[in-house]
Amino acid sequence: MVVEKSADFEVPEAQIAVHWREEEYIYPPSKFIAQANAGDPAIMKRFSESNYPECFKEYADLLTWDHYWHTTLDTSNPPFWKWFVGGRLNASYNCVDRHLAKNRNKAALIWVPEIETEATQVITYQELHRRVNEFAALLSDFAGLKAGDRVTFHLPMVPELPVAMLAAARLGIIHSEVFGGFSGNAAGERIADASSHVLVTIDSYYRNGQLLDHKAKADEAVLRAHDLGFDVEKVLVFQRHAGSYGSQTPMVAGRDFFVDEVIKPYRDQLVEPVSMPAESPLFLMYTSGSTGKPKGCQHSTGGYLSYVAGTSKFYQDIHPEDTYWCMADIGWITGHSYIVYGPLALGATSVMYEGVPTYPDAGRTWRIAERLGVNIFHTAPTTIRMLRKLGPDEPAKYDYHFKHMTTVGEPIEPDVWRWYYNVVGKGEAAIVDTWWQTENGGFLGSTLPGLQPMKPGSCGPGVLGVFPVVYDEDGKVVPAGSGRAGNICIRNPWPGIFQTIWGEPERFVKTYYEKYNRDPNSHDWRDWPYFAGDGAVQASDGYFRILGRVDDVINVAGHRLGTKELESACLTLPEVAEAAAVPVIDELRGRAVEMYIALKTGFTASAEMEEKVALAIETEIGRIARPKNVWIVADMPKTRSGKIMRRIIASISNFADVGDITTLANPEIVHDIRMHVQGEKVAKGDVPRELTNSELEEIKSFGAES
Ligand code: WTA
Repeated sequence: MVVEKSADFEVPEAQIAVHWREEEYIYPPSKFIAQANAGDPAIMKRFSESNYPECFKEYADLLTWDHYWHTTLDTSNPPFWKWFVGGRLNASYNCVDRHLAKNRNKAALIWVPEIETEATQVITYQELHRRVNEFAALLSDFAGLKAGDRVTFHLPMVPELPVAMLAAARLGIIHSEVFGGFSGNAAGERIADASSHVLVTIDSYYRNGQLLDHKAKADEAVLRAHDLGFDVEKVLVFQRHAGSYGSQTPMVAGRDFFVDEVIKPYRDQLVEPVSMPAESPLFLMYTSGSTGKPKGCQHSTGGYLSYVAGTSKFYQDIHPEDTYWCMADIGWITGHSYIVYGPLALGATSVMYEGVPTYPDAGRTWRIAERLGVNIFHTAPTTIRMLRKLGPDEPAKYDYHFKHMTTVGEPIEPDVWRWYYNVVGKGEAAIVDTWWQTENGGFLGSTLPGLQPMKPGSCGPGVLGVFPVVYDEDGKVVPAGSGRAGNICIRNPWPGIFQTIWGEPERFVKTYYEKYNRDPNSHDWRDWPYFAGDGAVQASDGYFRILGRVDDVINVAGHRLGTKELESACLTLPEVAEAAAVPVIDELRGRAVEMYIALKTGFTASAEMEEKVALAIETEIGRIARPKNVWIVADMPKTRSGKIMRRIIASISNFADVGDITTLANPEIVHDIRMHVQGEKVAKGDVPRELTNSELEEIKSFGAES
């Protein structure tokens, strides 16, 4: 749908322009449909609004409960919802022990080290059970932790991470994993916030062929936590290579301990899983907002585990015989839910890869898929774009066959979606575009892969038992098919929703519920829509297209342009590999758009190419969106998880300080881009006036990512 804008810019703020072209349906292959876990349309009825919330019994019944629950949803203290009240269970038991009877020696985890000559590790359920028990014994006895305590992990993609998570869960200890790529300081802040007396880390790990010193970050973390008034008592250090220490920093006597040494007395010890109330917290996962300190999202045991088991079954379509590979990092919510807890609750085989998808070359991902016989594949648009950029023809060279693929984490441009479908999936796989957030535990928007057709660029409707709605700024429903965007909200609670922000219940209510709450005294969930903070538009078929965070919008002369819309327009050009839109302060229009473009290999920068990009935006969106400048760069500044750091290029475009870039995957690129962009701007006389504080804040937090 293309909504033409009048030239006089009188469209009200709330009426966000939507310029997407409507895409065609693509139906899942019949072979997929024939075997799908959700193949019978009756499931839609079972999860219809009239059966809410009782429908979620079906998810809870995928688990083994020590004590069955009596109340599905308790709304007595909104918006602190309680699910499966009265029930008791243990997450570690559900993900490990209960599979032993039938599948003792089935692979639970297959770990692929980055160094290709190093052997793949296959960890059976029996072996996982052993390791989890031993580590649980150590956490309890040596580290002195018990149910309700917090423990922080700062671990990369090594099998010790899921082992540690499940060991903590076995004892009801609340784990808080900090993404391995984060700095020691970031870990220290999260340690202090969660008051974890114990930090679990590793000496080193591989990333892009380099053995990184990771233990150094633990020292930084402990120091930072100390500065914040919190003391870490014990640092437990795994070793990437048994018997050798791959870090330059000394072990601190009395504080740092090699796990391999202190675990010796606990070899072959078994630890009874602690039966936990459904509502007890399972873990914390920190996530950044556009303002304030990171939020420790607290997830429950019963509701969360039911939700990830149910969505893994119906949306990931995991069957016992499948080999499932989610290429996310366990340091993010996707890894928690869809590498560890969901797949293992179902007794599946879950693949973990240590390193970079394109190391040592662009064929690596597909070699792993071929070698392990992966048939379900799960990754993010950023990775898909990178794989396409570096090796557009690689997938065809390898003999793997996916029946199902997932995209998650950001809106995917239809053009990229089609490459994923045709080239990666070889036209044989059903794709789900799953929209959700750290706060949500599991998917919120997606097609049911065997029952609903795919539509490139749209995540689909709300998932089973989840009822989204798009509201305008005044809380009026923006009707489906109106072509207008607004704020996507979820009308009802679901079992995977986080319980609170750790230690900040008021912030929890304010951030997610205050905006559209109808009555703060109401105990009716209908009065408490969940505000997701994403812009979205709903097509007349009920499918949602997510436009990105509401704060990732560039307001050009009163027209709110989604960065994703702009970037999608550029990606319609065959030469373009990656595109990033940022705002520049513009005296006339308030903000103007600048586009940063990385070309596919084989194409070179030129004035013609810049004009082509500008024209593509004009054609796809309209003249109003024409970028002020198009910068063709060798690469974008990216986080270690591959997200483009828009705030850095926005700072360059606006001659603002780029801030800390040490945690980037490629900090050196920032200097090159700055020389290029600012050099040209100075030459053209296009240097902005000094920015106001609020302008600076906007630029520096644009597309915020900690
Ligand atoms: C964005 C990741 C479009 C969205 C699971 C959301 C998406 C934020 C999609 C959460 C998708 C996630 N399509 N946008 N399929 N999935 N997003 O907390 O803006 O790391 O609010 O959780 O990513 O990111 P988070």
